[in-house]
Amino acid sequence: MKKVSAYAPASIGNVSLGFDVLGAALEPIDGTSLGDEVIVEQATSFSLTVSGPFAHKLPADPDSNIVTRCYHYFCDALALNGKKVPVVAMTLNKKLPIGSGLGSSASSIVAAFHALNAYSDNVFDEDTLLAMMGELEGQISGSIHYDNVAPCYQGGMTLMTGATSPITVKLPVIKDWFWVACYSGISVSTAAAREILPKEIPVATALTFGRQLGVFVHALHAGDADMAASVMQDVIAEPYRKSLLPGFDEARTFSMENGALAFGISGSGPTVFAVCNDEAQAHQIAQWLDANYIQNDDGFSHVCRIPAQGAVAK
Ligand code: HSE
Repeated sequence: MKKVSAYAPASIGNVSLGFDVLGAALEPIDGTSLGDEVIVEQATSFSLTVSGPFAHKLPADPDSNIVTRCYHYFCDALALNGKKVPVVAMTLNKKLPIGSGLGSSASSIVAAFHALNAYSDNVFDEDTLLAMMGELEGQISGSIHYDNVAPCYQGGMTLMTGATSPITVKLPVIKDWFWVACYSGISVSTAAAREILPKEIPVATALTFGRQLGVFVHALHAGDADMAASVMQDVIAEPYRKSLLPGFDEARTFSMENGALAFGISGSGPTVFAVCNDEAQAHQIAQWLDANYIQNDDGFSHVCRIPAQGAVAK
């Protein structure tokens, strides 16, 4: 029986300074698998089974699940290209919390499309598949932005080009950096977190945003970690979104006073991240966030690296 399984990692959208245009994949250094899995198997009729620690937070009706929507979207694209549509049973192992800012919906979408594409002998190329992923992610969050689906699918740190091909370019990463990611356990809807942002920004803010992003990309290519860290501030979303995140200011203050080079909101939150170049300091910050930023039993922290590899199908 033909069977493919795909894993797609968690990701940090925006990375503070690149609202909607910059994202990074995450891989805990202790080997924890922080991402969703989708299995696709030959069947006589379509079905979706959902399992995993966050399965109970998803809609009970499989037709409302994003993975079912990915399947239908993928089949429509195959049919448009005159290809045979596969009849499969799908399983989603939902390991990422919903509304966490860790790219949870992106992870399910990427794992689903990557598994379906591998099952279909990689009929679609990378940009075509990524465009489909962006489209489905946009249906959930209210607008198309690739800052979670792209790093989740392609790995590393990705910058969106605004073009249809290539949709992204990969940036070099600072190999020494540890990325502490702490999910507080509450849920923040991306659509709601976008709604509270101003519809227009002052010219001075636009200039700061452009300068920071330009300097950051230069610094990564030059391998200048200090210069890269110095421009990792969010002038677009954090000033508004932090009101949705209890304990955010205290978490930032502790992290920056205890060795973090940068601190910010992962995607639309509530996950926060701290960048450190010292592993012991990263663990100390993770411990403090566990004790002080987490709000309930669903919360967790991980010390991560940015993996070069994104989604994997086998
Ligand atoms: N760039 C998006 C936002 C990421 O900040 O709204 C959330 O998915």
